Amino acid sequence: MNKTTITKIGVFTSGGDAPGMNAAIRAVVRSANYYQVESLGINRGYEGMIDGEISKLGTRSVGNIIQRGGTILKCARSDNFRTKEGRAKAIANLRKQGIDGLVAIGGDGTFRGMHELIKDSGIPAICVPGTIDNDISGTDYTIGYDTATNTAVEAIDRIRDTALSHNRLFFIEVMGRHSGYIALNSAIAGGAVAVIIPEEQTTFDELYTLLEQSGKANKKSSLVVVAEGAKLNAMELARMVAERSNYFDIKVTILGHLQRGGSPTYFDRVLASQMGLAAVEGLLRGEKDCMVGTRNGKMVLNAFEDIMNGQVHEIDQEALRLAKILST
Ligand code: F6P
Repeated sequence: MNKTTITKIGVFTSGGDAPGMNAAIRAVVRSANYYQVESLGINRGYEGMIDGEISKLGTRSVGNIIQRGGTILKCARSDNFRTKEGRAKAIANLRKQGIDGLVAIGGDGTFRGMHELIKDSGIPAICVPGTIDNDISGTDYTIGYDTATNTAVEAIDRIRDTALSHNRLFFIEVMGRHSGYIALNSAIAGGAVAVIIPEEQTTFDELYTLLEQSGKANKKSSLVVVAEGAKLNAMELARMVAERSNYFDIKVTILGHLQRGGSPTYFDRVLASQMGLAAVEGLLRGEKDCMVGTRNGKMVLNAFEDIMNGQVHEIDQEALRLAKILST
């Protein structure tokens, strides 16, 4: 399999952490070991690369982590790496350690950084999409999205219990940055009356009409799921509804970072394992400057240019239609 001269693969996690990142690290280390290639872990993403926080990872050092949330390699967002000087320091550290291949696990910021690093150093690198946001084109799913959405659904179910007891209207804000994926699918699974996402412009009047209708239809409680990237956030929407009518007893819950933690679901563990292996095998075949993705259950490699060319991971219109029909 090793058609290259690669002998040492550096692996790191970067950007916001996501459940399943540990499973991906484990997969990279164990796949590399399978092909008799060494692995080194780079701590704190690009920041650690600049500071030289690099150490050997063996198959035993990634034992007992597949089920753990967070990342044993830690994550950081790095402004220093955006500078030529920062990247030069990082590259010097990689060379000092003999790293001749890289696997980066993170979101689009991580990929952009990697692209610059490849341009400056020529070190082959492959990215693995790890972010709860599911906002990366070229893959049906990113690592962590399934776990985060399940966490959101569990929280929504709990909120429903108390909403029902008090006949309340809840606005529940979920993460996702500019993407409505977590919101849309947790709204469907949690039986929300409405979902507000950045990809679809629902006007306040439309939302208000929906809430009125649901009140008239004798709904005892109403849950509205709002993506954090929506034009109007959960607090603003709650305030606007309260200003228009005192009919509703309104509460707001912002789920926040609890969506980023927790043990990864089976889906994220398997996806991370598949992606880690695909990244290592891609490097050893001589691939570089690309991202692993999953398309209809199969591993694919996407050229960096294709995924970063301003493309967004389109929201599933059929899911949106489903959410609307079933909320009535
Ligand atoms: O990208 C993952 C994410 O959790 C987003 O959903 C959210 O907008 C952001 O990171 C929060 O970032 P931070 O942890 O830096 O506050």
